[in-house]
Amino acid sequence: MTIQFSTKNFPQADLQSAKHIKSGLKSLLAQSTDCLVLGYSKQDFESFAGNKNAKAKSGVLHELDALLGGSLTHAKLLGELEGVQGSTCLLKSGPTWSATAIKAKRVLLLNVGDQHDSSDKGLPAFAKVARGGLKTLSGGVIENAIWFAPSLSGTKSAQSIANEVRLTIQYAGDQAYRFGVRQPSMKFKAKDKADAFKHLIIASNDASAKEIKLAVEEGAALVEGMNLAKDLGNLPPNVCTPTYLGKTAQGLSKKTQLKVEVLGLKQIEALGMGSFLSVAKGSETPPQFIVMRHQGGKAGEAPIVLVGKGITFDTGGISLKPGEAMDEMKYDMCGAASVIGTMYATALMKLKKNVIGVVPTCENMPSGKATRPGDIVKSMSGQTIEILNTDAEGRLILCDALTYVERFKPKVVIDIATLTGACVIALGHVHSGLFSDDDNLVTALTKAGHDSLDTVWRLPLDAAYHEQLKSNFADVANIGGRPAGSVTAACFLSRFTEKYKWAHLDIAGTAWKSGAAKGATGRPVPLLVNFLLEQK
Ligand code: BES
Ligand code: MN
Ligand code: ZN
Repeated sequence: MTIQFSTKNFPQADLQSAKHIKSGLKSLLAQSTDCLVLGYSKQDFESFAGNKNAKAKSGVLHELDALLGGSLTHAKLLGELEGVQGSTCLLKSGPTWSATAIKAKRVLLLNVGDQHDSSDKGLPAFAKVARGGLKTLSGGVIENAIWFAPSLSGTKSAQSIANEVRLTIQYAGDQAYRFGVRQPSMKFKAKDKADAFKHLIIASNDASAKEIKLAVEEGAALVEGMNLAKDLGNLPPNVCTPTYLGKTAQGLSKKTQLKVEVLGLKQIEALGMGSFLSVAKGSETPPQFIVMRHQGGKAGEAPIVLVGKGITFDTGGISLKPGEAMDEMKYDMCGAASVIGTMYATALMKLKKNVIGVVPTCENMPSGKATRPGDIVKSMSGQTIEILNTDAEGRLILCDALTYVERFKPKVVIDIATLTGACVIALGHVHSGLFSDDDNLVTALTKAGHDSLDTVWRLPLDAAYHEQLKSNFADVANIGGRPAGSVTAACFLSRFTEKYKWAHLDIAGTAWKSGAAKGATGRPVPLLVNFLLEQK
């Protein structure tokens, strides 16, 4: 357990309605907590600061100042309480705080900006505020906090408060994640310490209680899924092998209602996955084909299918990669990790939909048995592929998985892959690449990305690009040259998806960070979980 989340309801607490501010504050301050987190708006600040055009002294800051014996007046004098959106002010209990009525040890004030601003910038702006607040809570002696969600929301609808709560929890989970602490048995590093901050209590009022309770449950499940995805990504490639991924998936079937099946080499051969097998051939470690099912919907209901690239290490094969930073190719299973993580979150949320996660997984190694450039292989679909570059292996394992999933008569299929370096060049580390011919699906995935701040950007998939994949000797070549490398990779995959609605996410730039803070990001689990939640 890295961090714990729960909810607490304060029926009447409402810091915007003059009638209830005082009693609301009193009930919140009466809680024994290391820190009570409250939001205030630009309007609250103006009224407290006594600006000319503001109404007479009133509002949350004014009332709070009275209850805390002038602590806010003092903080304002010191310049610690500010009118700028996103600014934070930490007040610590002192002799002026009435010891009998106030049990909170600290009050953290977050400036949420204009309370009337419900523009499109709303969510990213809120995220900045929430991040600032969470940062203040971590890294010190604070172990728990009560976060009064309604006061932190510029918008009023319970639904948008709930979206913000989910995002807050997503960020809190991100901040609390420590790889070493989660893998104590492996002792990769002599010393790793968990953050002192361990328990975030999201407070609601009667107007928001139902939505907030649900959002906290969903958010906590999302964090579990993201943590698992990060762990799998961060584990070294000598531990996180195809077998390990299979065992991890099977382990989840013991903790949840997930049904997990792992196919080995013989079964993969029997299915005729010649393309997948051509990648696995150079490795001593056997390939695995993982199928995870969540049966939350009606029996006959068409499932949403997620397919994740699970190359546990990508050397490039005979088309060997240069040595520099090759260690990062342990992250080449982050698509698989995001599918396994999303399936875990889905099961924990007991989502009322049918969802299937599929992961083809193997290593891409050079050896005397490895596939050569020039080899021609037959995919499960029957199409033959001329392998011109063994480093374009992701598409070779995915294409057979995409054929395999036809049997589920899916409502929609989304594949997730660290597929091309070209996608990093095109979109950097900000957006994942999104490819689909289905405009509705693009809209839904774009919205899910926007709502979870795990964003995507659509790239083309036109027929014209298919020209680059022509082979003189087989039905299709596995590379299309340097121009538009991400697009031709997606075009290759599209040839295996004709039987259903499909989208492809290239997460090569977003699944992990390099540099000093090297590590898996857990993306695009937030996007996928939000997409599943928003599906009708
Ligand atoms: N796993 C890589 C893609 C990758 C590269 C992800 C860098 C993240 C960072 C993939 O298997 C690959 O090697 N792709 C090749 C394709 C090329 C040979 C057509 C690439 O991008 O160079
Ligand atoms: Mn490769
Ligand atoms: Zn790869």
